[in-house]
Amino acid sequence: MIQFILNKKDISTSLPSGSLLLDFIRYEQNLTGTKIGCREGDCGACTALVGEIKNGELVYQSVTSCLMPIGNAHGKHIVTIEGINVEGLNFIQQAFADEGATQCGFCTPGFIVSLAGYCVNKKNVSAVDAVNGNICRCTGYKSIERAAQKITDKIAERKEEDVFAFAVKNKFLPDYFLTIKERLTNYLFKTNGVAKLTGAKFLGGGTDLYVQQHETMVHADIDFLFDKEHLNGVSQEGNRCIMGAAVTVTDIAESPIFRQNFPGLDRYIKLVSSTQIRNMATIAGNFINGSPIGDFTIFFLALDAQLVLSNGFTSREIPLRKLYKGYKTLDKTAEEFVEKIYFELPASTTKFNFEKVSKRINLDIASVNSAINLNLNGDVITNAGISAGGVGPVPTFLAKSSAFLKGKKISIETMQGLIDVVQTEISPISDARGTEAYKRLLLNQLIKAHFVSLFPQLSVEEILA
Ligand code: FES
Ligand code: FES
Repeated sequence: MIQFILNKKDISTSLPSGSLLLDFIRYEQNLTGTKIGCREGDCGACTALVGEIKNGELVYQSVTSCLMPIGNAHGKHIVTIEGINVEGLNFIQQAFADEGATQCGFCTPGFIVSLAGYCVNKKNVSAVDAVNGNICRCTGYKSIERAAQKITDKIAERKEEDVFAFAVKNKFLPDYFLTIKERLTNYLFKTNGVAKLTGAKFLGGGTDLYVQQHETMVHADIDFLFDKEHLNGVSQEGNRCIMGAAVTVTDIAESPIFRQNFPGLDRYIKLVSSTQIRNMATIAGNFINGSPIGDFTIFFLALDAQLVLSNGFTSREIPLRKLYKGYKTLDKTAEEFVEKIYFELPASTTKFNFEKVSKRINLDIASVNSAINLNLNGDVITNAGISAGGVGPVPTFLAKSSAFLKGKKISIETMQGLIDVVQTEISPISDARGTEAYKRLLLNQLIKAHFVSLFPQLSVEEILA
């Protein structure tokens, strides 16, 4: 039995745990304010909020309900557009009305729900960032930006006040939100100990599985990784960073360990999908998906991440660099899942960078992406890891290129030598994301971008010449 709170209402359902939240909301509960656009996580029309208690605090994240199994709603508070109604228009709805930020209205519930999530989080992002996973086909974004600015200005008045008290007082949210923390606390107590399936399919966020295998997943036996305490969390032991299999992209983006060790993190994160998808997608899922352009696979290949694979009884370790045997073919049995990921954090003498080119900046897959990790002694490279996606059948660790860099000085000549070696060890193909020649050129440009970003002592004109 799956139990959660939907808006104000307690839900208990025996539907298959792989059923989609979107279908449950619309077809079982007749809450049709949540719209169906793409059913692939791209448009944001189906956005809902998921509230849960983390570290003693009630936190909400936006998700695309078209990719979220109801099993992942278990023990949580799900909020749809109907759940944020107050008497009259709420503050966000009023801002949209005042600024003419809606035309046909199909996308509008998704925007409003994303912004409701923004209003109760303490994250250092703008209201515009909060809607980076919402697409509008007809209004035009300027009026939406103006509405978002009104919301940002109002939220700025909050100062140290409790976020929920402020949101209720200012008509962002109805007052039942003030009872949710207590309800969820009791609720978790009541629902603890729900039996887990065995021999089931492992599922984290499901952001690609539900696009590729929608029908199969709805009726599959699923073992939900987010429910397993020991698979959550980012920690540090000495210089080693350890992540559980259920760690999401958002977990990394907000982790003090990552924020301290990767100064460019905010820029890298913005290049990866949308807020809603980042809230659900796991790093381990990115690895196991095996996509040749998986952004975080490329990121962690450069860092030489190690995986702990478990079948529930025994475990073994394998470098991420050895996981891929061919296109979507892994050195992993069906019974094994990623239990842990670990890697050495960059030292003060290490330079790391990630770059990506896609047809649009937000919410798109890479044409080519690349990461570089260089250990330096003065201006001499003592160890290097460089990786690239979209240039072969698997996410590629560029072993020859990495070896070439060892012992070289940071210079324009080294960069040009690197580009020559890189070109000998990639094998891109022409496809929807570009021709072979284009992808070869893109990787050259990304290597130059690494050098521009990491070595301000080099002349940009010479790098780009
Ligand atoms: Fe488009 Fe869900 S329907 S993101
Ligand atoms: Fe029509 Fe946004 S108002 S799609």
